[in-house]
Amino acid sequence: MSNKVVLAYSGGVDTSVAVKWLREKYNMDVIALTIDVGNEPDFTFIKQKALNMGAIKAVVVDAKKDYVNRFVFPALQANALYEGKYPLATALGRPLMAEIMVKVARKEGATAIAHGSTAKGNDQVRFDVGINTLAPDLKIIGVAREWGMTRDETIAYAKRHNIPLPVTAKSPYSIDVALWGRSCECGAMEDPWIEPPEDAFAWTKSPQETPDKPCYVEIEFLKGIPVSINGKKMNGIKLIQTLNALGGEHGVGRIDMIEDRLVGIKSRETYEAPAAIMLIKAHQDLESMVLSKEQIRFSNSVSMAYSNLIYEGLWYTSHRQDLDAYIKSTQRYVTGVIKIKLHKGTCTVVGRKSTYSLYKFNLATYDKGDMFDPADSASFIRLWGLSAKTQVQTHKDEWEKENKSGYIIE
Ligand code: ARG
Repeated sequence: MSNKVVLAYSGGVDTSVAVKWLREKYNMDVIALTIDVGNEPDFTFIKQKALNMGAIKAVVVDAKKDYVNRFVFPALQANALYEGKYPLATALGRPLMAEIMVKVARKEGATAIAHGSTAKGNDQVRFDVGINTLAPDLKIIGVAREWGMTRDETIAYAKRHNIPLPVTAKSPYSIDVALWGRSCECGAMEDPWIEPPEDAFAWTKSPQETPDKPCYVEIEFLKGIPVSINGKKMNGIKLIQTLNALGGEHGVGRIDMIEDRLVGIKSRETYEAPAAIMLIKAHQDLESMVLSKEQIRFSNSVSMAYSNLIYEGLWYTSHRQDLDAYIKSTQRYVTGVIKIKLHKGTCTVVGRKSTYSLYKFNLATYDKGDMFDPADSASFIRLWGLSAKTQVQTHKDEWEKENKSGYIIE
């Protein structure tokens, strides 16, 4: 019977301690697995560190392409923002990581998968549900959940076992980085009244330090997928990196929110997601030009369901596939160019064009070229209001009561 465990390894204190702990507690051979979704780990350093900690093998997987194409872009097409704000960078990476952990476990003949997510967070849910759905026979070891050590105890354990503490261990924040965004919580921000300190941000300049001159960016979409910036074609990874840098320079993409975790806790988190914010705004705006109001209204409810489902770890479900099918279908018209303006922390759409545009100058204009027939309006409106009129006239008393307001007509 194999006694191998695949550990999701970030190279930080917690997962380094986990390598030792898994050996001590379960006497298991640890295969350290590091997955890159845009956090850009120093591969050689991390591998060596895992081996120094006692891992029998260290594996690094570059998953940026899958992260972008299979998770981020569908979420962009759905305009996914959890509770209207968070573009879900961390949440979108977890099901992919679960999938890769399972693949590596199979390849290495492991019987268990371990991760360091805490008992209070959402990530444990996303990992566990992902692993359980894809490989129910694999045992899951939630290391931090089981050992119950406080931060100080973890550091003491690390010192006892000669585990080097990186400089980042001194940071008061808990940080997670992926291409679609950077998540940062804890420290002073646990008081929701305290403004996030500047050192909580790493990708975006403070608006005071950004250029005085606005910057214009043109983003081209092909069926809901961004394909070029200012006329220059680039792949998804490059495009997101480019917009993160550009938006960050102008202080765009800072988010400060109280969110509802799946485990019933409200938490305060800050995010930096310049590319995500710019792309979602641009994509939404293009949709407003090429989709009908019925499609947009329905898409809005799909978007909310989709965001909740990603956040709550239910990526591997039929419901997600079915929502995807609706979104994919609407995207056949979402082709065109959006012009945005970045200035002092703001990102505003200032222009749009598309061959599928439902905006018709000849219908909208108040000037020459107007093709709208004003004679159509009056009788249309009589019919449109017919049901409302019938209701009010039938329930007259009730409406009179409601209309007894305080204003005085002299
Ligand atoms: N609250 C976010 C989520 O559940 C981010 C979690 C990771 N955040 C962190 N600062 N380590 O998706």
